[in-house]
Amino acid sequence: MTPRLTTGRILLSVPHMGGNEQLYVAEAFATNWLSTVGPNLTAFEREFERHIGMPSVALASGTAAMHLGLRLLGVKPNDDVFCPTLTFVATANPIAYLGANPIFLDSDRQTWNLDPDLLADALAQRAARNRLPKAVIVVHLYGQPADMDPILAVCARYEVPVFEDAAEALGSTYKGKPAGSHSGLAVYSFNGNKMITTTGGGMLSAANADWIQQARFWSTQARDNALWYEHSQMGYNYRMSNVLAGIGRGQLEVLGDRVSQRRAIAFRYRDAFADIPGMTFMPQSPHGIHTNWLSCFLIDEPAFGCSRDSLINALDAAGIESRPVWKPMHLQPLYRQAEHIGGDIAEDLFQRGICLPSSSSLTLEDQRRVIDAVYSTAGVACE
Ligand SMILES: Cc1ncc(COP(=O)(O)O)c(C=O)c1O
Repeated sequence: MTPRLTTGRILLSVPHMGGNEQLYVAEAFATNWLSTVGPNLTAFEREFERHIGMPSVALASGTAAMHLGLRLLGVKPNDDVFCPTLTFVATANPIAYLGANPIFLDSDRQTWNLDPDLLADALAQRAARNRLPKAVIVVHLYGQPADMDPILAVCARYEVPVFEDAAEALGSTYKGKPAGSHSGLAVYSFNGNKMITTTGGGMLSAANADWIQQARFWSTQARDNALWYEHSQMGYNYRMSNVLAGIGRGQLEVLGDRVSQRRAIAFRYRDAFADIPGMTFMPQSPHGIHTNWLSCFLIDEPAFGCSRDSLINALDAAGIESRPVWKPMHLQPLYRQAEHIGGDIAEDLFQRGICLPSSSSLTLEDQRRVIDAVYSTAGVACE
């Protein structure tokens, strides 16, 4: 099923249904399971668990999953939590929801993810000050698997738990296993722009089944087992609905296709732009499958002939949506007071990085339009 865009504008990343979603949704209507319990939810979680290899709970968003995951790790007011600075704000906000302090670390140029060497130095310094972080968050940015082995090794040395934000990385792998399944605690997002979508939603997965049971309890207002409404813990209204879980079931059936389609788009861009000076494809991890959820490039203005921002504006004028790479958290007004560790690699990636239209439903014709528009901006004759 190819989604029809009504505007003719080529968007960055749009939902792409597989076909069976409506059957599962119709089933929910036919059986009146129209709340946050029901067979679609159970089946979606079971099918997701088979894919990831960990018990999982379906939630209203990836952000909600981050919040519950941090709470499971015991993050409390005034704790420090290490977090990559190059990410979407939803990685960091749940740290602040819990009254803890996000500490932002710079990126590794090879992966654009958390730099394992920088992390090792930072943990050593914190250990010397007897102020270790309560947790380390790793983000698998744009579907690029972070280099987990050195990260897990150094965190194990200091007994600091690792929490994987795989919101953008469903379908990615690291050393043969799904991204997110290495540390024992991970988050996935089904936001409308992600690899697969439930219109909005998320999943929290953990190796420890008790944690998932606890998170499920918190996600439905933490109702104790009593005849009346009894509460001894703080809860949230974070559960996914059975209707949306039906969409998730259909989407999960086509995840493999979505990975192949996004990768094919990224590699077509890479090949098409190979001859453009000053335009570099995001590195691809040698350790696994980078889904290229979004196709990202770096623009070197002098060689390319114009700035990253001018390219975005030129594409916009041609009816094509593109975006800068995430603005680092330590540069956000919201987090101007937060500590930042490391150099300016993330800032450089933000200044020069561009995300091109990457929808798995992007047609060859539309991708050609994007490629032609980039060529005319770069001032290079288009073949
Ligand atoms: C890196 C990252 N973390 C967390 C989230 C939050 O997910 P959600 O939008 O489902 O709340 C997103 C995406 O939106 C994301 O890109």
